[in-house]
Parts: sequence; structure tokens; C-alpha cells
Amino acid sequence: MYEWHKQIWNDPYISRQMLKYHLNPSVDLASRKTDFIEASVNYIRERFNLREGKTVIDFGCGPGLYTTSLARLGCKVRGLDFSANSIDYAKTQAARLGLDIDYLHLNYLDYQAKEAFDLVTIIFCDYCVLSDEQRKKLLNIMKDSIKDDGYIFMDVCSEQMYEKIEEGTAFEIADNGFWSAQRHYIFKATFKYDINNVSLEKYTIVEKNRNIEIFNWLKHFTIAELSNEFEENGLEIVEVYSDVRGTPYDTASEIIAVVVAKKGIAGDSKNR
Ligand SMILES: C[S@@+](CC[C@H](N)C(=O)[O-])C[C@H]1O[C@@H](n2cnc3c(N)ncnc32)[C@H](O)[C@@H]1O
Repeated sequence: MYEWHKQIWNDPYISRQMLKYHLNPSVDLASRKTDFIEASVNYIRERFNLREGKTVIDFGCGPGLYTTSLARLGCKVRGLDFSANSIDYAKTQAARLGLDIDYLHLNYLDYQAKEAFDLVTIIFCDYCVLSDEQRKKLLNIMKDSIKDDGYIFMDVCSEQMYEKIEEGTAFEIADNGFWSAQRHYIFKATFKYDINNVSLEKYTIVEKNRNIEIFNWLKHFTIAELSNEFEENGLEIVEVYSDVRGTPYDTASEIIAVVVAKKGIAGDSKNR
């Protein structure tokens, strides 16, 4: 049973640390490194022919590292995120740069799609933290968010990543760190569930007056599994890559990036 992972993005202290990671250009945590994001925005622009007037919605936009660049291309952009810190930062940046980006502070599983966009993105394997039911719900929300000739572009963790994870436990004492500003004890346990290639990193943080439990679930996919999941929800994979920079697919890749369209509508050269 999945425990909801909201806390790391919403606990006042932890979400501030997360924002610092998002904004650190040289680490692949919370967001990927700046070079990678620039290369992926370039790829997305070219692949989906993004220009003035095109519409994009980014699920889990964080502090707006993708949405800002996409808006600069002249696209009409909406970003969804349930981290107040990240959305506040994204809004401030948009105002500072004079960009009209529609940021909504909400849980995207509650988002009600009223308009259809040319492109839906959900980037940095956010899809993998959701339970089977939540993924089904999200697929339907994303399907309702694209035009008939629109696309979803997203990345997920592959079974190759799963193979490299090792089960185990670790313990640490810290005074002022990622999880807490006061002295705290960190117990980390890593579990693997081979039946469906799901891993769990469970952190128990013990402070003087409270304990925090964090569950980082990650579902790792094969292309066949991913494809079935989309097909069951009226969608189909039209292209597969090793990452969201459009790197050609390699079976050893720990990431699978896919271009997804409504079933039966996809044409290879559509929108290009
Ligand atoms: C791994 S970060 C990636 C951020 C961004 N896509 C990027 O690559 O820079 C995931 C983001 O999704 C947000 N998020 C996770 N689950 C969410 C949900 N159910 N509803 C809204 N936002 C969510 C988090 O707050 C966080 O900003």
C-alpha cells in the first residue's frame, strides 16, 4: 500500500531544502542539472514545433525551470504543482521576467481539465511515485488535457535502474541537514518488491519532539508495461527515447522517455 509522498514537497523545512536542490544547477536532485534542462527544452521545442501560440501544460512544474523556458518561446504555458514554496518561487520569477505563465498550486490528481493543450509534460520520473490507481487517474487527467492531435512527453524509471538498487539499512546522526534544522537521527531502509519492480526508500527522522516518516516509492517500468498502461487508458506510445533530451533509446538506459498520443490518432509527422 503506497503511503502518500506529499510531505517532502510540503513540510515547511524539507520543502525549502528541496527548493535549494531544484535551484542548484549542478546536481540531479529535485530537478536535473541546468545543462540537461537546456538540452531537453531545445529538444522539446524542436520535436513538438513549439513557437508563439502553442500551448503547454507541465504537471509537477516545481519552481518553473521548464515552464519559464517554454514561455520564453512564446508558448502559452500552465504549470501545476502542490509545493507552495516552488509555486511561489515560479510565480515570482515569471513576474520578474515579465512572463505570463498560469501557475496553479494544487495536487494534479485533483486537476480538472477544462482546456486542451498541444503538449502535456511530466518530467523527472514523477509518474513513478504514484500508486497504480493514482497513475490511472493521472493518465485520464492528462488525456483530457491534450488536444486530439496533441502529445504527452514524459520520462519514467526503467527496470535497469531497479536492478542497480540494493536493499539495506543505514543510520546517521545530523545536527543541521536536509531533513531537519535541529539534531536528528536518520534511519533509512531500502526495500525491493520484485513482483512489480517497485522500490521503497523509507526514512524515519527522529527529532526531540517528533518523528517524521517519509516513503519514497518508485515504480520501474519495462516498455511493454508502460505501453499496456497507456493502451488501457486510450493512449499509445509513438516514440521511445533514453531521456527527455531525445537521446536514442538504449536498452541499458535507466530512464525511458516516451511521446504518447491519443490511441488511433497518432501520425508520425503530426505537428512537426
Ligand atoms: C522531481 S520534481 C520535478 C520538477 C520538474 N518537473 C523538473 O524536472 O524540474 C517533482 C515535482 O512534482 C511536484 N509534485 C509531486 N507530486 C505532485 C502532485 N500530486 N501534484 C502536484 N505536484 C506534485 C513536486 O512538488 C515537485 O515540484
